[in-house]
Amino acid sequence: MLAAMSQSLALRRPDDWHLHLRDGAMLAAVLPFTARQFARAIIMPNLVPPVTTVAAAAAYRRRILAALPRGAEFTPLMTCYLTDATDPEELARGHREGVFTAAKLYPAHATTNSAHGVTDLARIEPVLERMARIGMPLLVHGEVTEPGVDVFDREAVFIERVLAPLHRRLPELKIVLEHATTEEAVAFVSACGPTVAATITAHHLVINRNAIFAGGLRPHLYCLPIAKRETHRLALRRAAASGDPHFFLGTDSAPHPVTAKESACGCAGIFTAPAALEIYAQVFEEEGALDRLEAFASLNGPRFYGLPPNEARIALRRRSWRVPERVAAGEAWIVPFLAGEEVLWAIA
Ligand code: NCD
Ligand code: ZN
Repeated sequence: MLAAMSQSLALRRPDDWHLHLRDGAMLAAVLPFTARQFARAIIMPNLVPPVTTVAAAAAYRRRILAALPRGAEFTPLMTCYLTDATDPEELARGHREGVFTAAKLYPAHATTNSAHGVTDLARIEPVLERMARIGMPLLVHGEVTEPGVDVFDREAVFIERVLAPLHRRLPELKIVLEHATTEEAVAFVSACGPTVAATITAHHLVINRNAIFAGGLRPHLYCLPIAKRETHRLALRRAAASGDPHFFLGTDSAPHPVTAKESACGCAGIFTAPAALEIYAQVFEEEGALDRLEAFASLNGPRFYGLPPNEARIALRRRSWRVPERVAAGEAWIVPFLAGEEVLWAIA
């Protein structure tokens, strides 16, 4: 059995289709982890203040490029944070000029720095229609925010009440359901045509909701959408490992200072960048699907976005190593996902 197990793996360089890089010292600290494995990443716009204009996105892109380690080959793909006031003209101009790859929909108050998000899709109908016409993808944080909806049901309810009607209304609009966490999401997205896709994080393939409470409260496993029951984790693993082009890699790596996580009101976000591709490889090995890792990590995403897959290759070896306990970011520390634990694959 062991002899039959593959010990190395080469694939086209992958991309991360959902990433939080932050800004300033945090950006400088976390960017090298991403740039060493991914060729491109979709950069989330939930800064303070959010990235809502072409000028702000172009300036943020320059700061990211300036923070890259020397010799790194990495392209940030910028997104526009949609608000009730987004101007379709500004958005379309940003897309035309190659600044905005996509636009991000945060339902107001759904997650970290989403207070300026959209309060009602009806208010941005002209924006959505314009995006459908110009082929600009809409990236969705798929959770309803009504306080009456149980936190574990927010994604499934969003799909039923918001996403399915939106797709029926504008079937040609490209939509990515970001960080899918439920079997409902998997079922919905797989049943749609090629205009709907979903990203899947590494952590949602590894933990279920029990992990958040294992022996005590584990703030570093708290993210939004929150991890669900085991049945959902298994559905996500099947979807990712299937090779189905509807599903591709998006880490949602979301660093926060340890003081903001280990707090009476800890914020949502899991920092997976230090071992992301390696964790995905481990999951695909467990699923007996290492031969489909390239589709999920390097092919399905570019195909959906209408971009060429990367020509460069990356090699992984089956060699265990330990994820760092913590990472310095200026004065702050960040605790990565699986801190101090062993990961079985390493980038060669
Ligand atoms: C993200 C963050 O920290 O910006 N947090 C998270 O839990 N995933 C925001 C998001 O993607 O929801
Ligand atoms: Zn995110």
